[in-house]
Amino acid sequence: MKEKVPDRLPTHVAIIMDGNGRWAKQQRLRRVEGHKVGIDSVRDITEATCELGIPYLTLYAFSKENWSRPREEVKALMFLLGLYLEEELPMMMDRGIRFNIIGERGDFSKSLQAQFDAVMKKTERNRNLVLSIALSYSGRREIIRSVRHLCEDVKKGLVKRIDEKAFRRHLYSPEIPDPDFLIRTSGEMRLSNFLLWQVAYTEIYVTDILWPDFRKQAFLDALAEFAKRDRRFGNVKDF
Ligand code: IPE
Ligand code: IPE
Ligand code: MG
Repeated sequence: MKEKVPDRLPTHVAIIMDGNGRWAKQQRLRRVEGHKVGIDSVRDITEATCELGIPYLTLYAFSKENWSRPREEVKALMFLLGLYLEEELPMMMDRGIRFNIIGERGDFSKSLQAQFDAVMKKTERNRNLVLSIALSYSGRREIIRSVRHLCEDVKKGLVKRIDEKAFRRHLYSPEIPDPDFLIRTSGEMRLSNFLLWQVAYTEIYVTDILWPDFRKQAFLDALAEFAKRDRRFGNVKDF
């Protein structure tokens, strides 16, 4: 990478990939065209993450609430998801990317679920980057699900103390560290139900750039901003 790389990089970057519809509108195209070009941004940012040596990337691709969008748009998104998995697998193998999903896999069609399983299985031994895609994801649902599992553990006598550690064990991917850096594209200052538990001390960055335009240089600019952040975790500075 020829570009200037910030000296302090996050271990885990999470991104709310927003603005595909607005991008399409700007170009006088249909919304689905924005989603298609958005996939090019996914590839670009994934490759840049690998080149930088950042070990975890989590991308918010489809929320539980997104099921309420017009049927045609949901259908197009499902089609693009299948295409993405098919077309990107060789790149994942090439770059040593392990594919992971957070969210309710059971909400998807049987054929997409089979594709998820196949890509996860094929990439399970890859070690350079864990790429998690949030699909049919809801932070509140993840929390409720964890509480439910925890209650079962308590009933069975497997857990005596209900604490953060016991709770965390039931998140979709408990082994993945909390994100250090959360990027949201297209200007909205909200979390939209993303990783509510995990972002407790995450640095947040919002850019007006729409997701289909968010490429390597914009990512590096965001990371340069992260390098300047003073993370205190509730402590005082000159302790
Ligand atoms: C993000 O772009 C992609 C998904 C949520 C699937 P949007 O489709 O939300 O684009 P805007 O926010 O309408 O511009
Ligand atoms: C958040 O974007 C979800 C994803 C990026 C997948 P939305 O476009 O669904 O969020 P809101 O509706 O603006 O909060
Ligand atoms: Mg949106």
